[in-house]
Amino acid sequence: MRRFVAIALLLCSAAWAATSLWKPLQADGLRDPANPGLAFLQQPGDALSVLPRDTAGNLVNWVKAIDSGAINPRTNLFPETQVRIREDDIIVARFGSMPAVKFPHRQHTMWLDCTNCHEHLFKSKAGANRFSMQKILEGEQCGLCHGAVSFPLTECNRCHSVPNASLRRAAQAAAPAASSP
Ligand code: HEC
Ligand code: HEC
Ligand code: HEC
Repeated sequence: MRRFVAIALLLCSAAWAATSLWKPLQADGLRDPANPGLAFLQQPGDALSVLPRDTAGNLVNWVKAIDSGAINPRTNLFPETQVRIREDDIIVARFGSMPAVKFPHRQHTMWLDCTNCHEHLFKSKAGANRFSMQKILEGEQCGLCHGAVSFPLTECNRCHSVPNASLRRAAQAAAPAASSP
């Protein structure tokens, strides 16, 4: 019996530790803690602690949250809206000091419409855009969303995810004659 109480206490404290990773609404610095209306809102810890965990941002891996079925956001408000998903991955930067950057269309079009990016932000032609880490850090290009509403720029490896050596090997395999001396 005593053991059960100990385990129950342990589980409670683990659940408490998980929800306490998120600041309560009263302490998030955005809302008036004296507003009685706060009591009617769901606390971030209650809502987010049940979703797949991430190490940065709001600590939820939203890509996994969709892929695992933990959330199933509505794709459209109007029946006539065409829902468009694109599946390809594009390497948008390679052979620099960092691993190459892979841009995945699918993970973006699960949340966004093509017109959120094309054509004003990025031209829809592989290699037609000039990306710059400096601009991204200043909140342009990928940085318009990453660091604002999607995972933060400190997560270098999530964008710089492809080793350059593997791209070199693939290029060599595709054109062995051109790359041999
Ligand atoms: C949201 C995606 C994203 C994240 C996160 C990100 N980068 Fe980049 N990074 C890019 C893109 C796109 C480019 C291509 C720009 C270019 O060709 O110079 C780039 C280019 C670079 C470059 C110049 C090219 C090279 O490989 O030498 C460096 C250095 C760099 N990033 C470092 C970082 C570091 C360090 C972090 C983490 C603190 C980081 N990046 C996080 C998207 C990202
Ligand atoms: C989050 C921004 C974003 C969204 C949303 C997005 N794209 Fe893209 N798209 C890009 C980027 C970045 C590239 C790479 C451009 C480059 O390499 O310079 C690209 C490239 C393309 C290309 C060129 C690919 C190739 O291989 O030639 C096409 C076509 C395209 N997008 C169509 C679409 C369509 C259709 C949708 C909606 C289903 C869509 N995109 C949604 C950012 C986006
Ligand atoms: C219009 C907003 C927007 C822009 C612009 C944008 N992203 Fe994203 N990105 C998102 C959202 C939303 C997600 C999914 C939620 C999350 O992971 O935070 C995402 C997810 C990702 C993922 C995670 C995929 C995974 O499987 O975990 C990568 C990698 C990524 N973006 C790279 C980029 C790169 C590189 C650029 C610039 C070429 C870029 N994004 C531009 C909104 C954007």
